[in-house]
Amino acid sequence: MAGEPRQHDLLKYDWAHVAGVYPSDRGLRIEGLGLGLVPPQDNAGSPVTPTPPINLRGPVVQVQGDVLFSAAMQLPRGHRASLTFYGELPLNQDEWRQEGHAVTLHIAENAIIAELQQGIGEPTRQERKRDLERNVSVSLARQRGRLSITVDGEQVMSFDDPGILDPGPVYLGVDTVAGEYFIIESLSVESLDKEGEVAVTSHEMVRAEPTATSLRRLAENHHPHVRIGTAVSTIPLLSDSEYARTLATHFNMVTPENAMKFQAIHPRPAHYAFADADAIVDFAELNEMAVHGHALAWGEALPRWVTDPEREAQPTRDILIEHIETVVGRYRGRVASWDVINEPFEPFAGELRTDSPWYRAMGDTYIAVALETAHRADPDARLYINDFACEERNEKSDALYRLARSLLAEGVPLHGIGFQLHEDMRDDYRPVNAQAFQENVQRFIDLGLEVRISEMDVNLHDDDSPERLRAQADYYRSMLELALATPAFTAFSMWGFSDRYSSLQGWWDADDLGNGLIFDSEHAPKPAFHALQNALAE
Ligand code: XIL
Repeated sequence: MAGEPRQHDLLKYDWAHVAGVYPSDRGLRIEGLGLGLVPPQDNAGSPVTPTPPINLRGPVVQVQGDVLFSAAMQLPRGHRASLTFYGELPLNQDEWRQEGHAVTLHIAENAIIAELQQGIGEPTRQERKRDLERNVSVSLARQRGRLSITVDGEQVMSFDDPGILDPGPVYLGVDTVAGEYFIIESLSVESLDKEGEVAVTSHEMVRAEPTATSLRRLAENHHPHVRIGTAVSTIPLLSDSEYARTLATHFNMVTPENAMKFQAIHPRPAHYAFADADAIVDFAELNEMAVHGHALAWGEALPRWVTDPEREAQPTRDILIEHIETVVGRYRGRVASWDVINEPFEPFAGELRTDSPWYRAMGDTYIAVALETAHRADPDARLYINDFACEERNEKSDALYRLARSLLAEGVPLHGIGFQLHEDMRDDYRPVNAQAFQENVQRFIDLGLEVRISEMDVNLHDDDSPERLRAQADYYRSMLELALATPAFTAFSMWGFSDRYSSLQGWWDADDLGNGLIFDSEHAPKPAFHALQNALAE
């Protein structure tokens, strides 16, 4: 209530759904999982970008005016702790991350470091040396335009507040170094301002009722063999209710864009981080959507503990098998289909990629091993190979065809092929057309396989002239029409639906949104949306 500062206990919210966090009677135990993004392969020497866990299910703290966050923690000897207060959330891709606005306090035995992150660019840091006891109390205050940090009752730093906690809700993150842990015994927030106000809520998952003209309803009513799908990211799903509402209204299938990739879900040997993927699966169930899992055996998004050639842990084959058993097993009956094998071929050639640890350790047998393991873990799940640049007849699609045929001949459980359909529209480039795709896809269907459009986006490279948007719309429509006309297509799935969060944007310029999807960055439907709607209505 305004004018009556009161302390809100932030521990009584849902911390059980945060990776590495274990609530108990003593508070929260935080275990370091070392979550992070490995750089793309051409940049393999660069450091991993940390993606520390964030509590998206609440407490969500609405702050108005001056405010004080306080924590009491217990740090075992030599262990470190960090607490982050996000005024604006980051966005994770799987090779890079768009930073938000946040203050992070890193607490070690002999130093406190404050880090201020303001969007893209390096954070600014301040450090104070200080010997700490095992029990430490820390607070972050925002008062009269300054941020100040207090340790055991004594102010250790302060700086001008660049507005990091404004204007929206504040989310909390907790983390430590991989292999270390600490305990948070208490965590609270209060207003420091007679006029100000602090309100704390938990996040409620959006449930939306599809309308008669929503894409999914039109498909369910007129073309039930095709699911309308999209890739989704957990952070917008749980923090942007417009995103969540649009998603649940128009789609009846989701693919976790990055949350089920190896580095996101299995960051350390025998340690899994299911929270982000769980949120997507929970959301899908609440909104009666199917989940397509992505991706089990792939050469990218692998944490360093897997790619390290000096690794002494398990043999590679055992890692692959344990990973697939654990992930598919966890979602058995809840994830209907999987990209078991992702991008097995060289980008534009007919050879298998040989640079993944799976291929290096097992040769091409990794493919059958992965499919068989997934099948044992969930006999009802439909199992796919997913790749790009295979839509038309070419060297690569010929090789994919031969691979599929030989797997089937050997009795390996393979049920379908995903054609990614990442396409571009530029003056000097013509994307593959629906007719060429149809002529090629038929031979896969003739093998008895299902097929899906798995990751469609049509990058306009920021040209949003009416002509380009029209051409994009016609192109989307031509591909959907192919799927609707062909019973073997199980899904028409796009790689995201909102240019606001598109993976087509560049890490070097987060405002360059790439505009390849069917809703614009305000979530307004583009001509491509209406084109799909019209095709489904017919
Ligand atoms: C992309 C994601 O969308 C990005 O967020 C990430 O930075 C890179 O990967 N083929 C795939 C997907 O199978 O996993 C890729 O997703 C896009 C290409």
